[in-house]
Amino acid sequence: MIILGIETSCDETSAAVVEDGKKSLANIVASQQDLHSKYGGVVPEIACRAHTDMIITVIDKAVTEANLKMDDIDAISVANTPGLIGALLIGLTAAKTLGWILKKPLITVNHLHAHIYASKIEHENIDYPAISLVVSGGHTSLFLTHSETDYELLGGTIDDAAGEAFDKVGKILGLGYPAGPEIDTISQKGNEKAILFPRSYLKKGSLDFSFSGIKTAVLYHCMGQNSKNTREIPKLTDQEIADVAASFQEAVVDVLVAKTIFAANKFSSKSIILGGGVACNSRLRQRLTDAARQCDIPLFYPSKKLCMDNAAMVAGLAFHKYGEKKISSLEVEAMP
Ligand code: KG4
Ligand code: ZN
Repeated sequence: MIILGIETSCDETSAAVVEDGKKSLANIVASQQDLHSKYGGVVPEIACRAHTDMIITVIDKAVTEANLKMDDIDAISVANTPGLIGALLIGLTAAKTLGWILKKPLITVNHLHAHIYASKIEHENIDYPAISLVVSGGHTSLFLTHSETDYELLGGTIDDAAGEAFDKVGKILGLGYPAGPEIDTISQKGNEKAILFPRSYLKKGSLDFSFSGIKTAVLYHCMGQNSKNTREIPKLTDQEIADVAASFQEAVVDVLVAKTIFAANKFSSKSIILGGGVACNSRLRQRLTDAARQCDIPLFYPSKKLCMDNAAMVAGLAFHKYGEKKISSLEVEAMP
């Protein structure tokens, strides 16, 4: 079965063609990074205009690259939640229109569930129940995953998402946007023990996350004595930047790993799945790999392209929803 996937929840316009939930025939991603970088974050109005400009081109390119015609597509899938409402609506409207004109079923999926499903595209033998950690620019969520289509939310961020914290700390350090990849790279030259930033675990046993405190701690650390007189951050040396980046990253990774392993043990999970843009982080991958090995629980995460927002994960998950007859009507709505 051949499914077209559409993803427009944030700042990537993506379309993919996936066969039987696994074989990615095309996965086109048009990133808007250059449009948003000068603002240091995603500007919803700009994102929506760029999705509108790109959506048809990207869908067309995916079908062409898959060596298919529109008529060969068996179903249309789209992420309709969560995300920027205007951005989601552009993908959803495109999907509804195609479904209606081509008389093909429409399958809507949750963007976070799709991030978890991404591992399934590249890995066999993921046993359930699994503890799944989604870490992205907008979310930090732990799910108890019962099957490809059954996700139980255990906890999430009560303020900033992990990726958002990376991006905001990057701004403090004068790095570009998004800052996650750069913090990952420069941390390798830094000392993760240089500064002891706070680790917020919230109340005992909590599976929620909070990253706004550490962001403020980094800000005050960088302002140093200046914090009393001016809002300006003094110029840091490259080594100081690397040390702050590595110490910040270590604090975030400590919390993510501890809560994921705690949840995996609590729910006797048979696998751990990592997904979302921050799942590209090399320190997180390494620390979670070590921790999962110690508990003897297999860990799965996708290659970097499938960690970032993409439509192959949407079309892949939709295949399983279709198998369970979870088809959406044309009245289905987008939810932020
Ligand atoms: O999942 P994603 O592509 O988009 C959302 O759904 O938000 O995630 C984007 C986020 C950005 O905040 C970016 O800084 C972060 O993922 N990111 C990273 C790395 N690569 C991307 N964060 C830390 N380390 C990385 N290597
Ligand atoms: Zn995402």
